[in-house]
Amino acid sequence: MHQINDCAFRMLCKKSGAGLVYTGLLNPQTKEKLNLKDKPAIQFACNSTKGLKEFIKKYDKNISLYDLNLGCPSPHAKSSKIGYFMINNYNAIKDILKTIKANTKKPLTIKIRKIPEENLKQIIKLAEKYCDAIGVHPRTQPQGYSGEPDIEFARKVKSLTKLPIIYSGNIKTKEEALEKLKEFDFIMIGRASIGNPNIFSEFADKRQRRKFNFLDWLKLYKKTENKQSFNQIKFQALNFTRDFEGSAKARDILAKTKNEKELLKLIKTLSKTF
Ligand SMILES: Cc1cc2nc3c(=O)[nH]c(=O)nc-3n(C[C@H](O)[C@H](O)[C@H](O)COP(=O)(O)O)c2cc1C
Repeated sequence: MHQINDCAFRMLCKKSGAGLVYTGLLNPQTKEKLNLKDKPAIQFACNSTKGLKEFIKKYDKNISLYDLNLGCPSPHAKSSKIGYFMINNYNAIKDILKTIKANTKKPLTIKIRKIPEENLKQIIKLAEKYCDAIGVHPRTQPQGYSGEPDIEFARKVKSLTKLPIIYSGNIKTKEEALEKLKEFDFIMIGRASIGNPNIFSEFADKRQRRKFNFLDWLKLYKKTENKQSFNQIKFQALNFTRDFEGSAKARDILAKTKNEKELLKLIKTLSKTF
C-alpha cells in the first residue's frame, strides 16, 4: 500500500511472520532512489515497457517477486490509464509481462479486481503464459475498498486456471484467514495491517509474539532510510495510534505536532495508555 508500506514497516511485518511484503505502486521509470533493503515484492503500475529493463537490471538482486497492478481504482490510475484502467489493453499487459519475464528469474504475478468475464478470460490466458500466480481483490472498480468483496468472483478465477490464487479482501482475523486458505492458495492482508504489523504474528504461530509499536518502526526507519521525512514519521505515528480508548483526541493533537521532538514527547505519554 502506497506510503504505508515503507521499508521499515515491511520489515516489521516480516518479523511478525508475513511471508511476503510488497512495495506500493511503482512506476518503473521512477527516478526516486528506492529502499529495497528488505528484498520486497515490487508492484509495478505502468502501461508500457518503458524503463522496465533498466529497473530490473538495477534492482533485481533486491527483489523477491514482481507484480503488475491491474486493479488500482483511483482517479490517478484513471487519468494515467494504469491499474484497473488498462484491463482492455491486452497488448500492453502482454508486452509488460513478457519483458519482465525475459529479464528476471524471479516470480511474476498480476493483481486484478472483479472484472467482466471477457477481460478475465483474456487476462488469465496471458497470466498462464507469463505468470506464477494471480492476486484477486474481488471488488469492482466503483466499489473501491468498500462493500462486500465478491467471493464468487474469486472462486470463478480459481476454477478457470491452475495458477495459484492470492486472495485479498477484508481479512482481519485468523479465523477469516484460515477460512479463505481452504479455498485459495495464499492470502493478502491490507488494511488490517496498517499501524498493526503484529497482525501477522496471529497467523504465524511459531513466530515471535513480541508486539511492535511505533517506536520500533521509528528505530528501523532511522536505521534503514537515508532520506528521512517528518511527514512520513507523523504519518506512521498516526497509523500506529489508531483504535485505543481516546485515540481520536490524541491523534488530533499528534496531527498538529510540528517536529519530531514534539511528536516523540506526545507518543511517550500516549504509550502509557496503549
Ligand atoms: C490506502 C490503501 C492503499 C492501497 N494501495 C494498494 C497498492 O498500492 N497496490 C495494490 O495492489 N493494492 C492496494 N490497495 C488494496 C489492498 O492491497 C487490498 O487489495 C484491498 O484493500 C482489500 O484488502 P483489505 O481488506 O485486506 O485491505 C490499497 C488499499 C488501501 C486501503
